Amino acid sequence: MGRYKQRVSIAESALFEERLPDRFPKLVNLYEKAKRDFWNETTAIDWDQELTLTMDQRVRLARLLSITYYGERAALTIASQLVATVPDEEARQVLACQVVEEAKHVGAFQRLLKKLDRIHPPSYFARKFLVDLIETDEPTAKLVGMHLFVENIANHAFNALRESLEDPLVRQVLEYVARDEKKHTALAVLYLPSLLEKLPPHKAAWLYAKQAKWLFMGILMVKDGYEDARALNVDLAEAGQKALRQHYRLREQMATTRGLLDVPGFEKVIDLVARMAKG
Ligand SMILES: [Fe+2]
Ligand SMILES: [Fe+2]
Repeated sequence: MGRYKQRVSIAESALFEERLPDRFPKLVNLYEKAKRDFWNETTAIDWDQELTLTMDQRVRLARLLSITYYGERAALTIASQLVATVPDEEARQVLACQVVEEAKHVGAFQRLLKKLDRIHPPSYFARKFLVDLIETDEPTAKLVGMHLFVENIANHAFNALRESLEDPLVRQVLEYVARDEKKHTALAVLYLPSLLEKLPPHKAAWLYAKQAKWLFMGILMVKDGYEDARALNVDLAEAGQKALRQHYRLREQMATTRGLLDVPGFEKVIDLVARMAKG
């Protein structure tokens, strides 16, 4: 008997563990919402409509949205890594929906970029930041980096683009994608506290340092798009400032902020973003 007990692996015990009902009722609701909202990027969007942008606008927008495209690809990889590594089934079900959602976002941006111009290579900071997120082993850190940082920045960048660009096709793609991205930041708010509470102290300190690095890289990644955004009348600096403020609002909704970066005088970071926009 004892011999068999010892052979039970972590994967096996997780697989046959009894599911405790209603541990995360809000995640169950989010899972239902994700399934209700499913859309098909091939048929939901009218890909035959003509673009209304000038050639210069198309190239600039393609450079900006190429950053997003790589972000979507990273999100697809990270959501699938998280399905296999988070400990709770309710979160795994939401993440399984996210895998499909990010796959659609990758597909939608790929089509849009080719219609606009082409897929441009990633900037130095986009490459460093996204690779670091994929290569980080700790699932809690992946959720903080992708869901709380990148998804939030992307949401605000999409809003800024939607407010300034009149093109119907571009707006349609951004609207569909943004609807999903809101669910991804919601997952972070609803699920991260339970993971953060279980994080050993040395991991919490490590996570803190990681976020300082990601904040720095995220600001520089957005800054790479400033010039093209300005030419398109899109205020990316303002979008970055709004994202920082929203980041703090999301933290306030969470039951614990253990291990989460608390930038001393974060208004200074917001000022810094504004100064970078001018320079
Ligand atoms: Fe996405
Ligand atoms: Fe997402």
